[in-house]
Amino acid sequence: MNIRELLNQKVQQAMQAAGIPADYSAHLAPSKKAGFGDYQANGAMAAAKAMKTNPRELAQTILDNLDLDGIAEKTEIAGPGFINIHLADNWLAQQTATLLNDPQLGQEKVAAPQTVVVDYSSPNLAKEMHVGHLRSSIIGDALVRALEFQGHRVIRQNHVGDWGTQFGMLIAELEDQIEDGEAAEFALKDLEGFYQQSKKHFDEDEDFAKRARDYVVKLQSGDERVLGLWEKFKRVSLHHSEEIYEQLNVTLKEEDVRGESAYNDDLPKVVAALKKQGLAVEDQGAQVVFLEELADKEGNPSPVIIQKQGGGYLYATSDLAALRYRTQSLQADRILYFIDARQSLHMNQVFTLARKAKFVPDNVSLEHHAFGTMMGPDGKPFKTRTGGTVKLASLLDEAVERAAALIAAKDPGLSEEEKVEVAQKVGIGAVKYADLSKTRTNDYIFNWDAMLSFEGNTAPYLQYAYTRIQSIFRKAGVKPTDLAADINIGTEAEKALALKLLQFPEVLDQVTREAYPHVLCTYLYDVASLFMKFYEACPILKKDVDTATRNSRLGIAHVAAQTLKTGLDLLGIETMEKM
Ligand code: ARG
Repeated sequence: MNIRELLNQKVQQAMQAAGIPADYSAHLAPSKKAGFGDYQANGAMAAAKAMKTNPRELAQTILDNLDLDGIAEKTEIAGPGFINIHLADNWLAQQTATLLNDPQLGQEKVAAPQTVVVDYSSPNLAKEMHVGHLRSSIIGDALVRALEFQGHRVIRQNHVGDWGTQFGMLIAELEDQIEDGEAAEFALKDLEGFYQQSKKHFDEDEDFAKRARDYVVKLQSGDERVLGLWEKFKRVSLHHSEEIYEQLNVTLKEEDVRGESAYNDDLPKVVAALKKQGLAVEDQGAQVVFLEELADKEGNPSPVIIQKQGGGYLYATSDLAALRYRTQSLQADRILYFIDARQSLHMNQVFTLARKAKFVPDNVSLEHHAFGTMMGPDGKPFKTRTGGTVKLASLLDEAVERAAALIAAKDPGLSEEEKVEVAQKVGIGAVKYADLSKTRTNDYIFNWDAMLSFEGNTAPYLQYAYTRIQSIFRKAGVKPTDLAADINIGTEAEKALALKLLQFPEVLDQVTREAYPHVLCTYLYDVASLFMKFYEACPILKKDVDTATRNSRLGIAHVAAQTLKTGLDLLGIETMEKM
């Protein structure tokens, strides 16, 4: 149990003993201001109001019943009825010692694991991945890692766009090039160029456009030869995405791909079910659901087209089919979507409709975790100098090159091999961290210099803090595993750091509940900053430090290092022993 849960339980018990009904919350949280203790319980005020008694007196009765023996050194009432809890140094020291050899760093595996389906990355396969795919891929991956760390059963779903009219165009192009004697793999070597070329043919050549449209029909009716070409296209395109995931240290694998095409056979069933329930109606030859729930200001219901005139299905139809699959076959308790904020209306329509049609049981949580746009230095969506989309592969290459130049300039005495490793981890880490550390829902400005800085809330700063602790251990000639589990807390700096380290599971709770990785970033930055203060105030390697003190401080340093490493790993960012 983490500190917050423990204290919450204790205060809750005291509240009940004070005669407060069980449904009143203790409102317990870490104190926001110094001088108000380490944690604060604010529940007395609301309870007193309902019970029509004096809040300070009620807070006193709660305190009289509060048993924090050995845990807190002081409790007090402040203001109108806040209860401030000051934790005892001894207790914090004991708790910190339990983290020394705990790979979970106090995060017990959850007692009731949920099945969580996470839909993320999900690029359209027609083109190369571009910067617009960065956020979904890395934010989703951070959540997946954190949920698994807590012990949930996570099912990744890469809902790639591998179906639809653009594939007719691409297949027509592929066939032309194969006829010209190119192997499919060769023709598709430059995915982006291939797409542009087929688009050009489609727009300019009437014959080609007609063939492309015929291919769509053939593809959808299961023509084997056309399906074969489509498979080839898909394979090359997916291979490209896998290379990006590898470079980005994103955990998505081939088996996580379940694209729009996987739901092809379910689409008529979805439409039939919606018609049968009287939800879908014919409108100008199309099948449409009008959602009153999402009506605009004038009261016009929000239309969702689920089948076009002529029979074609839409993005929303496959999302509805995917929801049925995720709840019925995958048995999800919670389904998270990491998609750009510009698709908020779409997701809202899909969720509303799925609930209405009872495709999704009431107890399944459907969550669209939207994010803002990555902007260039000019404050407009990030583009190349000539206004084109930036390929994710080139952005990542540039990150590694820039990191390599920085490392070379710093010249920390690394071998060539180490330099390559460090450049990779720092470059990719910097890009990811710069993104993950911003509040997900906001747009942010992409800035190379800021993200690669060794100062401030950046990946290099945190990676450096980690290597710094490793170098302390090298200098001390001690292995962390040799440390006796004996920790003492005697100074403010030790206490502040230890308390922070013990809050790791609380932070993860918030991260996975709200799907906000920036909360973890802020936390890790606090850990690194508190470590630097601790190291300044509490020398470890100096001669006059006695062995017990030195070992205790090494112990705290080790837990700090493990917390940084584990936390960064949950963000998909790697650490190294030297840099
Ligand atoms: N392929 C879509 C796009 O690139 C994103 C898919 C997101 N997931 C979903 N279930 N709709 O815009």
